[in-house]
Amino acid sequence: MNFSLSRLEVMKHIEKYIQDAYNDFLTPVDKIWQPADLLPVASSENFFEEVKQLQDSAKELSYDLVAVLIGDTITEEALPTYETWLAGIEHVSQDRNGPWSKWVRAWTAEENRHGAALNTYLYLSGRVDMRKMEISTQYLIADGFDIGTDKDPYRNFIYTSFQETATNLSHRRVAQFAKQQGDTLMAKLCGHIAADEARHAKAYKAFVARILEIDPNEMLLAFEDMMRKKIVMPAHFLREMGLKIGQTFGHFTDAAQRLGVYTATDYTDILKDLVDEWKLDQLTGLNDAGEKARDYLIALPDRLNRVAERMKTPTLEYKFSWIHA
Ligand SMILES: [Fe+2]
Ligand SMILES: [Fe+2]
Repeated sequence: MNFSLSRLEVMKHIEKYIQDAYNDFLTPVDKIWQPADLLPVASSENFFEEVKQLQDSAKELSYDLVAVLIGDTITEEALPTYETWLAGIEHVSQDRNGPWSKWVRAWTAEENRHGAALNTYLYLSGRVDMRKMEISTQYLIADGFDIGTDKDPYRNFIYTSFQETATNLSHRRVAQFAKQQGDTLMAKLCGHIAADEARHAKAYKAFVARILEIDPNEMLLAFEDMMRKKIVMPAHFLREMGLKIGQTFGHFTDAAQRLGVYTATDYTDILKDLVDEWKLDQLTGLNDAGEKARDYLIALPDRLNRVAERMKTPTLEYKFSWIHA
């Protein structure tokens, strides 16, 4: 095994897998769902009736669930930040017809439907102060994020593997809660979004698996580094009008934790799944630094679980400016 491979060589090697991922994990545009398949459309003669039904169900959603939905929507709508970040990775061909550029464009195109669908739902729901929400979205895009990956493809793929899995889980949970609270339209919408996120997670996890085959030490070091920094959510700079960068984010995650949409235990479970999926315990031919990183990563879920057990569920009631009532 050659340990002196450069990132550039490795990324060149996995280009063919990225090419395959385009077909294996993305759905052709004319086959995939669109927001208009699920939401009332104004050209339909039943439009007002459907909106009325949507609003009646939305009325039943709990305060925390609406807060989480808004936070999720803003997170999805800050997609320009994520596309710019992915497009700016180093050590990979930026050729516009190359596999990476094609992947980034097509992934972005799939993701773009999520913010559009959720935004339209919230707009129609009557539960939301749209202007306040739109201000938060504009802030979040303008503020960007700082997630500790720099322009490194290895750190980037660890982050995306983790984050796409986390968004799959949280949208799936929102779907469950919406269903329990009688909003079948929202349940269906979030179920569809969750399914997209699952495909995306699979793709990024496959990229990491390929890199582990040829450059395990460096990949492990990148994984260790990201976990030491902690995986921060893409909306960690979330704020409302009149507040400073990040001031709203904690209230959003508190609501998610309180509801059980995304908890500290979920964070640990995702990490454990990644350690298992990439079979870290079976990697061979590691150098000392690689061994140490591997040991750290394998032991980490248990350590984090002990911390999570001591964490209290946040109870602070917070009134978001986004929500009418
Ligand atoms: Fe998404
Ligand atoms: Fe995603």
